[in-house]
Amino acid sequence: MTHPNPRQLGTCASGMPRALGAVRQLGTLRQYGASCPAPTTRRGGPEDTPSGEPVPGPSSGPPSGPRGGSVRGAAGAHPPVRPDLDARWPAHATAVRLPADGPGDDRAAFYRRIRDEHGPVAPVLLEGDVPAWLVLGYREVVYVAGTPALFGRDCRIWNAWDLVPPAWPLQSVVGQRPSLRALDGPAHARRLGAVGDVLGMFEPHGLRAQAASGADALIDAMAGDGRAELMTQYASPLPAMVAAGMWGLPDTDLTALARDLTLLVSGGTGARDARRRAHAMLTRVVRRRRAQPGDDAVSALLTHPAGLRDDEVVEDVMATLIAGQAPTADWIGNTLRLMLTDPRFATDLAGGRLSAGDAMAEVLWADPPIQNLVARWARRDVRLGGRWIRAGDLLIFGLSAANSDPWARPQPSGRPSGNHAHLAFGHGEHRCPFPAQMTAETIATTAIEVLLDRLPDLELAVEPRDLRWRPSVWARGVAALPVRFTPP
Ligand code: HEM
Repeated sequence: MTHPNPRQLGTCASGMPRALGAVRQLGTLRQYGASCPAPTTRRGGPEDTPSGEPVPGPSSGPPSGPRGGSVRGAAGAHPPVRPDLDARWPAHATAVRLPADGPGDDRAAFYRRIRDEHGPVAPVLLEGDVPAWLVLGYREVVYVAGTPALFGRDCRIWNAWDLVPPAWPLQSVVGQRPSLRALDGPAHARRLGAVGDVLGMFEPHGLRAQAASGADALIDAMAGDGRAELMTQYASPLPAMVAAGMWGLPDTDLTALARDLTLLVSGGTGARDARRRAHAMLTRVVRRRRAQPGDDAVSALLTHPAGLRDDEVVEDVMATLIAGQAPTADWIGNTLRLMLTDPRFATDLAGGRLSAGDAMAEVLWADPPIQNLVARWARRDVRLGGRWIRAGDLLIFGLSAANSDPWARPQPSGRPSGNHAHLAFGHGEHRCPFPAQMTAETIATTAIEVLLDRLPDLELAVEPRDLRWRPSVWARGVAALPVRFTPP
């Protein structure tokens, strides 16, 4: 079996906007990776299981990974405090704590240290000292995501549920509702097929018109002030506005919806209430559309030949809203941050040397909106990246770390040069569906183009060093983007 090198995949068109110079003139959009999926490979960790065969259980297997390496001194790392952990999780004696509020500004160094210390698959402790594996190797992420026979999405097989403290802040991130996210095989294909068909009904030009009119409205609301905070006033509400239009949601309080959906992906204390509010709103919408179908995506899902029940539609629309809202907002925010702080985008945003498309592409490599993802549970004992993973172990995809794996990107700084083999959209059966990637791209592209068109002298209102990332180990997005501009 040959193994394509992702560095050579850049020649393969997979849908990033090539140039955004002509503001508001969007070329034909192609779907990410439709012709250029990230490489499937079994090298690296999977070298250990070239055929993906299950291995003997821990009792008969070799020791669970390196024990000697201390991670004392590494950011967020110190030995576990749980006395019960050592016996059940020997490899986690040197585990790294994943700080709930994220690795902060030193993110690249944080993941590099973990990789240097532990290799491509590292023992980590989530909040409450709950054990998991962080998969930082590009090849290992691709292998795990692409091998559903060994790694699935059903969290009921998790072997650490008894270690989860009551009112665990990550409950909403790890404990999945019965949505398409939690299914595998034919059951997943049925639900995802319906969602993909429905998302695919929306033509890029229609979505673009919807996004442009939302962007105009948001800019109108803030333009007179000559100052704005772009995350709350622009990047976050815009995807919610477009989603509300697509799904036929009441547009009474889209800011609250956007906030709830962001809370849900960031984890934390407010996530449970956020889920309850979003779920109640969607249940009402689904009931109404079942009684009286309209020209919207909820109605299309209810009448899809897959024959989804109401509760399935509620869960899948919710999963899709959660999967789409914050990442799209952060793609917009992270791109604007890059353009406003990096000299390569020059003095004049609209006339900079590198385009907004370059910035959007770079963000997907360097600051992917989902930096870590609660990803899969091992179905069997298996060896991965030099580690023995036991049946029921939880694996976290370190998408940000995998994107900067030296094997995939020997020189992570600098332009990705048209290489779209990043893992920002995941990989395998559960990757972000292609129509969803197209939707995200259309919204983000339009958001940036319209903003630069309407406010061409936009600049940061604070020093770049004063910008902060949202405190989350899961999402990657700027907390606030204060800007000033000449009112149009
Ligand atoms: C920049 C924006 C986005 C990013 C970075 C992103 C990224 C991702 C990632 C990493 C996954 C999970 C892959 C896995 O579990 O292996 C995912 C799944 C998903 N995304 Fe996106 N996404 C984005 C926008 C959207 C949008 C706008 C929508 C909907 C319109 C959407 C719908 C979905 C759905 C339904 C799934 C679940 C697929 C499944 O489990 O089978 N995403 N996305």
